[in-house]
Amino acid sequence: MKICMIGSGYVGLVTGACLAEFGMEVICVDQDTAKIEKLQKGKSPFYEPGLDDLIEKNIEEGRLSFSTDTEQGVRTSTVIFIAVGTPANSDGSPDLSHVEAAVREVAGYVTEYKIIVLKSTVPVGTGRWAKGLITEAVQGDVPFDMVSNPEFLREGAAVEDFFRPDRVVIGAESEKAIDVMKDIYNALYLIEAPFIITTIETAEMIKYASNAFLATKISFINEIANLCESVGADVHDVARAMGLDGRIGKKFLHPGPGFGGSCFPKDTKALVHVGRMHNCEMEIVQSTIMVNERQKERMIAKIEQMVGDVRGKSIGILGLAFKPNTDDMREASSIPIIEGLQSRGALIKAYDPEAMEEAQKIFHDVTYCKGPYEVAEGSHAVVLLTEWNQFRLLDLTRIKGLLQEPVFIDLRNVYEPLQMRELGFRYCGVGR
Ligand code: UDX
Repeated sequence: MKICMIGSGYVGLVTGACLAEFGMEVICVDQDTAKIEKLQKGKSPFYEPGLDDLIEKNIEEGRLSFSTDTEQGVRTSTVIFIAVGTPANSDGSPDLSHVEAAVREVAGYVTEYKIIVLKSTVPVGTGRWAKGLITEAVQGDVPFDMVSNPEFLREGAAVEDFFRPDRVVIGAESEKAIDVMKDIYNALYLIEAPFIITTIETAEMIKYASNAFLATKISFINEIANLCESVGADVHDVARAMGLDGRIGKKFLHPGPGFGGSCFPKDTKALVHVGRMHNCEMEIVQSTIMVNERQKERMIAKIEQMVGDVRGKSIGILGLAFKPNTDDMREASSIPIIEGLQSRGALIKAYDPEAMEEAQKIFHDVTYCKGPYEVAEGSHAVVLLTEWNQFRLLDLTRIKGLLQEPVFIDLRNVYEPLQMRELGFRYCGVGR
């Protein structure tokens, strides 16, 4: 099976490398020459555990290649995945210009049967619209099929998620396309991953509904955490007890500084936008977004409550990426929090195991440190913002000794409040 992956970004690259690992011949295409050159040398342009090894191995074994030539990729493949970005426009609607450009380009090279698979997260109706574009563009009566195959990969665990998915969603209209897609994912079928075979529209909706629901769970627990602080309850016990109810489930009930990343903020906004277009207000999702924005402001207020006036004070930040095991800074909660503190006159020192290069493109006047202890040295408080494993086992006595004031603000609830207080810290978490 020959596969062409258009768009070698996060989703395209992980999917391409993993499909090559399944034994398929995959050509990953991207317009970015520098990115393709790096990939040809076996190096991923971003940090993702396990991905470099997969790329290197599959290049060596002759199943994975990279190119800037879309025509060659499309003409030599039967299945064309489109995995280009869908960033948010200023009104929250998804910008489909990259998807449209890719679909139009692919259409120009369809001279024999092809299956075109939309992997990018796109509003309901995009698959059908793309099918129309291709039908118009294809010369003569060349058959093709359109498929929607949304991804559910978590950054930092994307390779693992690909090989052990909770489900595989295939939205298609023809038996032939469904059979080919089942063949592609046969290795997952064999490990009994559930396959959802449905229409294109339903597949597109599944993706938005899933992400919006997960985001809602996070905003929900963040609101509960805020109330816990006011009434003297511990959100950890609340979340644990809630999660033991099988109907609720224990995942995505960790309170914190709000969700970020490339998906939840963008997809929740897009769902609200699609709802408006169809006269169907998505009020729960709107609240989810609003609560998430407020949560970041609340974190600044929390820091001020612990430190007092932050003007001229040095605040040490542990973790900048939107979550651990990634260098991705997109919509990271660290951005509004750090910028908010800076606008109030705070001096910021920071360390992140992977994201400092990306962070330098965003922040001004941040002092980057070599590790957590340098961050703590001379600071008036330390703020744990991203729960990297290496921040879970800090030498707390050493941290306390290095700080100017023993203030530890734990926005991911990594440490136990009682133990921290016993160690002599002025400590606070979220909702405890
Ligand atoms: C998400 C979805 O999980 C994935 O299925 C989809 O395809 C892409 O979007 P990702 O953005 O990589 O994946 O990260 P995820 O692990 O879901 O976390 C998203 C954000 O929510 C992070 O900022 C994280 O810190 C936050 N989060 C997550 C919480 O604050 N609490 C939680 O309980 C879980």
